[in-house]
Amino acid sequence: MLMIAEHFRKLVGSSPEVGARAPGRVNLIGEHTDYNDGFVLPAAIDRYIEFAGRRRADRRVRVYALDFQDQAEFSLDALEKDAAHAWSNYLRGVSKLLEVDGHRLTGADIVFGGDVPREAGLSSSAAVEVAAATFWKKLLKLELDPVYVIKLARKAENEFVGVPCGIMDQFISALGRQDHALFLDCRDLVYRHVPLRDTVKIVVCNSGVKRALAQSEYEVRLKQCRQAVAQIASTGLAVKSLRDVELADLETARPALNEILLRRARHIVTENQRTLEAVKVLSEGDLERFGELMYASHESLRDDYEVSSKELDTLVELARKQPGVLGARMTGAGFGGCTVNLVLADAAEAFVKNVRRGYQGALGLEGEIYVCRASDGALAA
Ligand code: GLA
Repeated sequence: MLMIAEHFRKLVGSSPEVGARAPGRVNLIGEHTDYNDGFVLPAAIDRYIEFAGRRRADRRVRVYALDFQDQAEFSLDALEKDAAHAWSNYLRGVSKLLEVDGHRLTGADIVFGGDVPREAGLSSSAAVEVAAATFWKKLLKLELDPVYVIKLARKAENEFVGVPCGIMDQFISALGRQDHALFLDCRDLVYRHVPLRDTVKIVVCNSGVKRALAQSEYEVRLKQCRQAVAQIASTGLAVKSLRDVELADLETARPALNEILLRRARHIVTENQRTLEAVKVLSEGDLERFGELMYASHESLRDDYEVSSKELDTLVELARKQPGVLGARMTGAGFGGCTVNLVLADAAEAFVKNVRRGYQGALGLEGEIYVCRASDGALAA
């Protein structure tokens, strides 16, 4: 357990005024759909980024990152990106956007850290952004609506840090609910919490492979989705995003679509369908069907969207052979990172042992495995 207040006292020499924390996330289904106005079903996990801090009398922010054993300092009047302390850019970005929106911040001493694995596809960056915004909200008693915070956190990542992500990660980190998944329509941001049964566990397998290609390939997919929409629209179909496309439309538009764009679009179209069905069967308690949809999602990400990897495929195949496993798939952007597995509670312990051993045997790699509990987001009511 991270004793953030203790660390603060040691590093700063006084007690923090406030603490704030935001969880990482795992996505159960609905992958690469968020930036296509589609549907997602993530859950916040019980791993957090925690902030502690207190006001200063000036406009300087002094921030210490426990996980990097590093410190940075900046002025709220000159908020720029800092390549030498890249970890501080999430806080800088969030602070800058709050100021731009007219929220006058004060200087602060801040310490932050946590146990969300980094570069593992579990949204540690979104957790830092949401925790930072929540920290300012609490420290300065700002009236900030959760959806405002979510959009601001995403904007910080897109425009300040420069990573073109969708809205899923910030959304779930802010508005996750304990023992629930969150069904989100990324077009109008209407959402609903869906209860998870305690007979199953969400088990996350970390391939240990950092997502080296994730950002550049993510940008390629984003562009391909836009191109596919333009080509489909050029056939006279009224579509604004792949969210508006049906499988039959892909047939109609086929002559206008090149092979790669067809496959990319097919993933998004079928993934939206799977996510809608997954929410329905989860609400009905049909976890077997839910698991089948997870496997189908993985295959589509592997074959049509081409964002999986040998390690992720190996983890999914290993999972499939274990007793008590309902479904498994890669989760997050892909190209490394994690798989998510739905495992009967009483089979979870054996699953962890067997998959770890099997992964080591198959690829000689040490995978970390986390049995997670869906948890409250930073701004959960
Ligand atoms: C990353 C992005 C999200 C989403 C997923 C893929 O996690 O940050 O917005 O696009 O990839 O589903």
